[in-house]
Amino acid sequence: MRTTAPSGRVASKRVLVIGGGSVGPGWGNGKAAAVLYAREGADVVVVDRSADAAQATVELIHEEGSRATAHIGDMTDPQAAQDAVAATVSSLGGLDILHFNIGISTRGGIVDTALEDWRKVFAVNLDAAFHVTQAALPVLEQDGGGAIVYITTLAAHLNGPYAYVGYETSKAALSRLSRSVAAEYAARGVRSNTVVPGMIDTPHVHAHVATSGDGAAVAQARAAQVPMKRQGTGWDIAEAALFLASDAAGFITGVDLRVDGGMSILMGNAAI
Ligand SMILES: NC(=O)c1ccc[n+]([C@@H]2O[C@H](COP(=O)([O-])OP(=O)(O)OC[C@H]3O[C@@H](n4cnc5c(N)ncnc54)[C@H](O)[C@@H]3O)[C@@H](O)[C@H]2O)c1
Repeated sequence: MRTTAPSGRVASKRVLVIGGGSVGPGWGNGKAAAVLYAREGADVVVVDRSADAAQATVELIHEEGSRATAHIGDMTDPQAAQDAVAATVSSLGGLDILHFNIGISTRGGIVDTALEDWRKVFAVNLDAAFHVTQAALPVLEQDGGGAIVYITTLAAHLNGPYAYVGYETSKAALSRLSRSVAAEYAARGVRSNTVVPGMIDTPHVHAHVATSGDGAAVAQARAAQVPMKRQGTGWDIAEAALFLASDAAGFITGVDLRVDGGMSILMGNAAI
């Protein structure tokens, strides 16, 4: 659970969270981020391709007395990405922070990854980010600047125990996209950074391992690989994103902030 007290770090900011639902009960990275931005005073638009998932996050935010609306759309569709940004501008009057959370993976090395899977993963992890970023940047710039936070993965930077070549490569490209945006827009008032999760205990991971045996054993094995001897939570990722999105990080752009309990310290080890 979250341990810090709200202090209005993004008060009155207009935030668009892409993938702010969750694939299951509990706290995913995107859901925790949407709730945290709202707790910290922002107006949040929660975008998800699942109406139920988006609505569940919005209801949580309302129950806490904060402000949010849901917008449904599949961000692999360029027009849907334009519509999500337009809906945000029409309901909030503009945009200050774009948080891009969505990401999927299929397991496999280079030879055994089907082209169809490769394309599916790239469509969500990279193309959708491109569509949303293209739609959001003119609005962010016009509104006097802002911040973008992309959620990548440690596997974009280091090799893990399993091959997920489409996931690793698409997320590495997402990190590069973030730095391209940072370079192009540094003098135009828009900052762009990534949060790089290590082993995080989320409903997405629960769903992923459910097909591969004993969930508790998998959780224990994941935690054992982390120098801090625990998996991270959606709140760890949300807190890092909140910092990068807030004015406290006003001189920070083009960085990849690893949130991994020290996993990167280990030689030859990494995880998704
Ligand atoms: N849990 C971990 O250990 C871990 C590690 C590294 C990186 N990550 C990253 O964290 C992110 C996922 O975190 P989460 O816990 O919020 O996952 P999640 O899958 O529970 O939530 C993501 C939401 O995005 C929505 N979504 C998926 N594709 C979409 C699309 N095309 N258009 C609109 N909405 C879409 C889903 O419906 C879901 O509600 C991913 O980017 C993943 O790569 C997680």
